[in-house]
Amino acid sequence: MTTPGSVLSVEKVPKLGGFVKLFIDSADPKQVRDAVATGVVDGVTTNPKLLARSDRAPADLVPELCALVRGPVSVPVRARASDSIVEEGLALARLHERVVVKVPVHADGLRAIARLRGEGVRTHATLCCSPNQALLAAKCGAYFVSPFVGRSEDLGGSGLELVAQIIEILDNYEFETQVMVASVRNPVHVQESALLGADACTMPWSVLQALAHHPLTDRLDEEQRRAWSQG
Ligand code: G3P
Repeated sequence: MTTPGSVLSVEKVPKLGGFVKLFIDSADPKQVRDAVATGVVDGVTTNPKLLARSDRAPADLVPELCALVRGPVSVPVRARASDSIVEEGLALARLHERVVVKVPVHADGLRAIARLRGEGVRTHATLCCSPNQALLAAKCGAYFVSPFVGRSEDLGGSGLELVAQIIEILDNYEFETQVMVASVRNPVHVQESALLGADACTMPWSVLQALAHHPLTDRLDEEQRRAWSQG
């Protein structure tokens, strides 16, 4: 069955008892505070671009971000070789118990994910652009894996089809790795991810704010305000 309004024909039923977790993709404490105040934010993700913009060292910024939210806070490693990723990952994990270490899904990254798992460190496999990369990340024991929807679409691919295939593969083998959709550009990406049963979605503050907005709601609200004032 095709979901009405869905761009996909893949039918997925979200796991019973689960819910889609919404993450704010930001390294700006003020933005994170505002996002958490909405009451719908389950965690924070950061990336190198966002951290560079913040102009603060992770050792200083990360504990502050962790204090603002109850859930996981994903922090990327700068290192690219397996041994240094593990070393840096262990240091990041020591910053706060809710830090999840973000590691790219290339060969060195995957080796590091498996080793960090062995050390009891949760990892977030990032830059995932294919179902096979997600399969490997799950086999290595990643806690989250993030398909990059917007970036895949920039190259003419179907980001949401990528998400659907990853969810299907991970469900086939009952991997515990959670699929966190990333590189989200608009509310449709969030809606489709939820329809597909993704475990989580991370998005910029602008997209999170846009989720609550609908022009018809505004019009009806205005109509009701007028009715109140005439009554
Ligand atoms: O934080 C990871 C991801 O969501 C960033 O996506 O497309 O803004 O580079 P993008």
